[in-house]
Amino acid sequence: MVKKNACVFISGEGTNLKNLIRRSRDYCFPITIKLVVCNNPKAKGINLAKKYSIPHIIIDTKLRNFENYILKNLRKYRISIICLAGYMKIISKNFIRNYRKKIINIHPSLLPKFKGLNTFSRVLKKKEIKTGCTVHYVNEKLDAGRIISQKSFYILPDFNEKDVKDRTQKLEYLAYPEAILKIFRISS
Ligand code: GRF
Repeated sequence: MVKKNACVFISGEGTNLKNLIRRSRDYCFPITIKLVVCNNPKAKGINLAKKYSIPHIIIDTKLRNFENYILKNLRKYRISIICLAGYMKIISKNFIRNYRKKIINIHPSLLPKFKGLNTFSRVLKKKEIKTGCTVHYVNEKLDAGRIISQKSFYILPDFNEKDVKDRTQKLEYLAYPEAILKIFRISS
């Protein structure tokens, strides 16, 4: 199988990155991770890039041209799909235009519900009976692109924020690879 070159954008823990690295080492998985982009020099996820010898760049989003620097690197590594995994920076319209329909994101709620930040506390406050995660294409509007895959679970009455987060993240590790397989039309 000819794999597509992927880049993962992170800002923090990188547990989704870790899961995608693990899955992408499978011969039948359609992507290989060629680059990690991170906007936080203290992110734990950077250690994963180092551990698995994946080139990584740490960007300074205070610099005016930081997106051009990313674009240059995406071209250098011939990246054809970008996976956002906990990347805490809004991507500009210009950037999205360059990679239209090639940027995907994972969000910790059942979109279109609970777009934006602090989803777990808002889900509990609203007394939702179900929540989950969503993998979607990135467009110019926040957390609003076409949905590729979703996974859900029931919220038990005694669940706290940590329980909701743990359950959601467990499902993320299934949903993200599944979405990638779906994009490349491989049945899982
Ligand atoms: C995930 O919960 C994802 O849904 C959200 O950010 C979190 C990233 O976690 N967008 P990690 O860095 O992959 O551990």
